[in-house]
Amino acid sequence: MPWGDDSTDTRLHGTQIADSVLDTIGNTPLVRLRQISERYGLACVLAMKMETTNPGGSSKDRPALEMILAAERDGSLQPGGTIVEPTSGNTGVGLAIVAAQRGYRCVFVMTDKVAPEKVSLLRAYGAEVVVCPVAVAPEDPQSYYRVAERLTRERNAFRPNQYANPNNPLAHQQTTGPELWEQTGGRITHFVAGAGTCGTITGTARYLKSRNPAVRVIAADPDASVFSGGAGRPYLVEGVGEDFFPAAWDPTVYDEVIPISDEQSFLTARQVSQVEGILIGGSGGLAVAAAIQVAQRAQPEDIVVVLNPDSGRGYLSRVFDDGWMAGYGFLQECSECVSAVLAASRTTPSLLYVNPADSVRRAVDLMQANGISQLPVCKNTPPFAAAEVSGAVDELHLMAAIAADPHLLDAPVEQIMGPKLPTIGAGQPMTLAVERLASAPALLVLSGGRPLSVLTRSDLLRYFEEAARG
Ligand SMILES: Cc1ncc(COP(=O)(O)O)c(C=O)c1O
Repeated sequence: MPWGDDSTDTRLHGTQIADSVLDTIGNTPLVRLRQISERYGLACVLAMKMETTNPGGSSKDRPALEMILAAERDGSLQPGGTIVEPTSGNTGVGLAIVAAQRGYRCVFVMTDKVAPEKVSLLRAYGAEVVVCPVAVAPEDPQSYYRVAERLTRERNAFRPNQYANPNNPLAHQQTTGPELWEQTGGRITHFVAGAGTCGTITGTARYLKSRNPAVRVIAADPDASVFSGGAGRPYLVEGVGEDFFPAAWDPTVYDEVIPISDEQSFLTARQVSQVEGILIGGSGGLAVAAAIQVAQRAQPEDIVVVLNPDSGRGYLSRVFDDGWMAGYGFLQECSECVSAVLAASRTTPSLLYVNPADSVRRAVDLMQANGISQLPVCKNTPPFAAAEVSGAVDELHLMAAIAADPHLLDAPVEQIMGPKLPTIGAGQPMTLAVERLASAPALLVLSGGRPLSVLTRSDLLRYFEEAARG
């Protein structure tokens, strides 16, 4: 039915005028990934559900609308009321759109770690944004959680809480699932999507399985996230994966969870954007990378659908910035790269490190046993994420500290460690390493987003000397 016929204003009947922007949520297109299918030699049909055509540009408009409508029905949101949610992402945009249309105030609470564009985006929709310091404990009254709790209380506000709200998966069960069933003429065989709150995958899966229990549902997951068996350690892809199991997590409707690395996610996002002309972000790249694996095993008559949650526009300064990508070791920028120095070094470039709780004595012993003069301080065990590097220790500072107080030998390293070493990507030019080493004794080399090795001035000198010798 054309949109206008749904309106109570009869003047719209017989027109294609949507009654409000809210009527444009959902009914997103399903598009075949022709170029990707050709490049990967896929026999089946691989199609993408393009959630970017929702008015807020993401799949989150659907649960935002459903959560607000349900709160109106049960009275937790009264006319002119306020919505408070700790979010910086797509859900905030969805809530702000629905709130604008239905006359609610929105207050979003986020940390000062969030990019300023995200704050501006939500303010552009008329929302109030409260920024809290990231560097405080969760129980501190200034923390993101505590401020959201206080504002909810003080303003007698409705808190959608997408991680626990059953209307989040329900939105997808009532809209995304039926759309996919219709759009594939009931012939969808596989559904692949990333999982964050699990609303998208669970709701869509529940509907599809109710129509045909043989439809296979596959969650694509950052390899460090708990859904695919990871420990919930840091990773770089945004919006998907978790370090806990949200209320909507429902393994009874998932057939498989495929772990995907940051590197695969980002490189796939770039490839899809370039060869299909569909600009997708890191979490879309993650979902497509998993869908390619699924499609490679599928039968020629199968229809594999992958859901793309949002646009690559939100990630231009990261996934689509060559400097950012190369800095994390996701891209090779040159022929004379840092990786060549590591490859030529006689020792294997395994990362020597200490944990923050290790003793200073252990750091000294490790440096002496290996003839090195600095060590990164990293949390957990290898392979580390770049975000798990918390500092560094070097010979000079250790010597000075211990000379002043010999008891420090038994203190934990984190008590006297210095700032982190500057980083460089394994695929970045040696000339950049030379430049950076002018102001630092050593660099931490990243490859695939992870610390790989420490590069010192003497490593480079040795390399240049050997190269000159031929
Ligand atoms: C960019 C992006 N991708 C995927 C998801 C995951 O969707 P869901 O929360 O429904 O599991 C989110 C959720 O915030 C997201 O922002």
